[in-house]
Amino acid sequence: MAFDLVFFGGTGDLTWRKLMPALFQAFRHGKLPGDGRILAVARDEQSDEKYRAWLKERFQEVEGDKRPSSEEFERFAAQVFYRRMDLSQPEHYAKLKEWLGSREGASGPAPADTVVFYLATSPHLFTQICEQLGAAGLNHSKVRVVLEKPLGHDLASSQHINRVVRSVFEEQQAFRIDHYLGKPSVQNLSALRFANALFEPLWRRESIANIQITLAESLGVGTRGDFYDRTGALRDMIQNHALQLLTMIAMEPPATSDADAIRDEKLKVLKSLRPFTPESVGRDVVRGQYRAGNIGGQPVPGYLDEQKVPPGSHCETFVALRTEVQNWRWAGVPFYLRTGKRLAARDAQIVVNFRPVPHPIFPGAHRANQLVIKLQPEDGLELRLLAAKGSGVGESLAPVSLDLDFDRAFPSERVGAYERLLLDAIAGRLNLFVRSDEQEQAWRWVEPILDAWSREREQHGEGPRGYAAGTWGPAAASALVARDGNAWSEEQ
Ligand code: BG6
Repeated sequence: MAFDLVFFGGTGDLTWRKLMPALFQAFRHGKLPGDGRILAVARDEQSDEKYRAWLKERFQEVEGDKRPSSEEFERFAAQVFYRRMDLSQPEHYAKLKEWLGSREGASGPAPADTVVFYLATSPHLFTQICEQLGAAGLNHSKVRVVLEKPLGHDLASSQHINRVVRSVFEEQQAFRIDHYLGKPSVQNLSALRFANALFEPLWRRESIANIQITLAESLGVGTRGDFYDRTGALRDMIQNHALQLLTMIAMEPPATSDADAIRDEKLKVLKSLRPFTPESVGRDVVRGQYRAGNIGGQPVPGYLDEQKVPPGSHCETFVALRTEVQNWRWAGVPFYLRTGKRLAARDAQIVVNFRPVPHPIFPGAHRANQLVIKLQPEDGLELRLLAAKGSGVGESLAPVSLDLDFDRAFPSERVGAYERLLLDAIAGRLNLFVRSDEQEQAWRWVEPILDAWSREREQHGEGPRGYAAGTWGPAAASALVARDGNAWSEEQ
């Protein structure tokens, strides 16, 4: 299949750190259709050769085993091109159209079967790029547009972006990316629920006590202090990644595997989330900001001492919250979501805590079963059970695990999130992309939290609670869960 993939923001961080390496992996795995061209566009004037040399240098910074050999890079780079574009200039889109029509450097027939525009620019350019693409006639049925987060800053701005996108493209042409949906363990979550008969009968309030979603990072904000300070953990991780995981956990089985059948069910979950009120924000949401501390034995600075962070910032680098999915299946089951920078470990996981047995007959403390869906650093599933050790009369039970490591189970087939999602966008598979109504509903749900926080700031000058880098966040996050008689997984 002949495709053209155009990266707007071709010299940006996202492109060289994530997208190009992901495409290279797809190429290495033999999954990138051969007859394709990858075009990077950005402001600087430079030749294809110069861009390729620059990219080759950047690839040296990519993780060890993902780094290409020189020969591999040359073969991959033969598909990579560069053009200068001023994104406000209609004639530059006309030139882009000409290039796409010419199939310059491609072996296949003109025009390509698919044209994918990936907007890896600052989001304030999204509407301008879409409008210009439309005006240049680059919105025909073979075109797809991939929109990278953040898609808006709040409900109104995301609705504005979506309105513009819809005025130029059909919804089926819009691929809103949430790279967490591309992670292999998230695929496995669907398989676990809908391809196995074992869990689904238990996947409900009668058997499940609570569900915890943790997206913890040990890194700080690094050099992105200015971007991060305008964003904060709620917008950066909860509104999108954590809520998307929650929908995958809580959704009803879709009738088919069609993108819209799945997205309809996910939307229903988002609509069933208990809405926040000013009171419940105070009670059910904890925000924090890291102070200086230690990570891996090394001292690290506090958030306010990071580069490009404004003095006295109230930006939250940690959020923990409690919510409920108000429907027949989940009524009364707490869902705890938590994310943060500079936490004790890089650890993304979903823990499903089952209810204890109704009538214990063995001596000793009884630990309820847990299913842990591990997203990273490992990618796997762990089912925690109790077993008899076989040591004789009066023995107490011991915790044991059924542990599945997907990297070991499928060693040659694992693909990274961006690799998967880029290949899906090229192939036109929308299942793992977010529909505009889902995205807007997620904003609608987080907005009362943002409003309550800005009121607290204006009226009482209140900001997030401090927590030492290298810990699991403010103590209030533990209290939030303890209030229900529960504990975060690392505290159990
Ligand atoms: C991004 C956030 O969406 O996800 C970053 O903007 C965060 O702040 C990153 O670090 C985490 O992604 P991953 O895949 O490394 O967990």
